[in-house]
Amino acid sequence: MLNFATVGTGWITESFIQAAQESKDLRLAGVYSRSDEKAKKLAETYHAQHYYTNIEELACNPEIDVVYIASPNSVHFSQTLVFLKNKKHVICEKPIFSNMTEWEEAYRTAEENGVYLLEAIRNIHTPNFKILKDHLHMAGKVRSTMLSYIQYSSRYDLFLKGEEPNVFSTRYSGGALVDLGVYPLFLAVALFGEPEKAAYHPVLLRNGVDGSGTLVLSYDGFVCTILCSKVSHSMLPCEIHGEKGTFVLEDAAPISEITFYDSHTKEAQVLSVEQEAKDMVYECKDFARIIETKDTDEYKSLKNLSKAVLRITEEVRRENGIVFGVEE
Ligand SMILES: NC(=O)c1ccc[n+]([C@@H]2O[C@H](COP(=O)([O-])OP(=O)(O)OC[C@H]3O[C@@H](n4cnc5c(N)ncnc54)[C@H](OP(=O)(O)O)[C@@H]3O)[C@@H](O)[C@H]2O)c1
Repeated sequence: MLNFATVGTGWITESFIQAAQESKDLRLAGVYSRSDEKAKKLAETYHAQHYYTNIEELACNPEIDVVYIASPNSVHFSQTLVFLKNKKHVICEKPIFSNMTEWEEAYRTAEENGVYLLEAIRNIHTPNFKILKDHLHMAGKVRSTMLSYIQYSSRYDLFLKGEEPNVFSTRYSGGALVDLGVYPLFLAVALFGEPEKAAYHPVLLRNGVDGSGTLVLSYDGFVCTILCSKVSHSMLPCEIHGEKGTFVLEDAAPISEITFYDSHTKEAQVLSVEQEAKDMVYECKDFARIIETKDTDEYKSLKNLSKAVLRITEEVRRENGIVFGVEE
């Protein structure tokens, strides 16, 4: 079993800790917060032996094998580097970094220090994603795809009141594409590979961040349209349209249900399985196995996926003049 520590004290950190406990592959040993009170409280709630307000001190603890980072996107890079340099494996929340310059330096540092760097993107580790990938051939030649993640954010209420929550701020490398669009984008790249072309049509809010947008990926023979938004809500499922049939996915993450409709017989077949409610358990298990068994093939494949996704989001972001604070 690997000992892990956490960075950040938002709800997602608690979800990860609970999933890690359920996985029985990762044991919480330490937590970090900028606030002594929050660090102590989180450590007590989940019975972590150590708590820190100094990130370097956490990084020096020889009992910690892995660190899970769930801070604002703009600080992922600097925090990740501290741990990699201290030979800790890092599981960093999506979107892993702000741009490819950070990505290249971080992966180089991981390699130099003999540790792994993994992007925490939930959907591609689920059993239903694996089922979809294995059955994709049933659709025949894919001709179009519509994937979406459109979810009204409670933080938009604060934005409307004049505040600037991190996820609605370019200073913190936020925005709909990198926050929600990455889920369907990871699906697209994991299923179909890198597109020939990508174009993004954002809806910009008053501070220049994208509140919603449409990403169009051009592939040989078909187009994949990705809709993402944090300022409205949608009940639309995702669809993959092939010449032989169509896959309907209840959602892009965690992919709770998959149905295949045969174009000729019109028959419907449910392919999905019931997944764990704490779906982060699947990434916990995958990451623990990759680290413990030194599964370099799987590691390289996840690394390439992470690279392809960040390359696309950075390229289309820059084409639209969306500049992150770390780039100013
Ligand atoms: N996988 C998922 O399903 C999922 C879901 C939600 C979010 N996420 C990802 O998780 C990450 C955190 O998201 P979030 O919404 O929780 O972010 P957030 O609320 O902006 O910040 C998360 C935590 O980081 C610390 N923090 C806040 N501002 C900071 C700053 N300026 N410098 C350093 N630390 C700071 C805070 O912890 P302390 O005050 O204790 O230091 C805070 O609780 C993001 O990368 C997001 O994309 C993933």
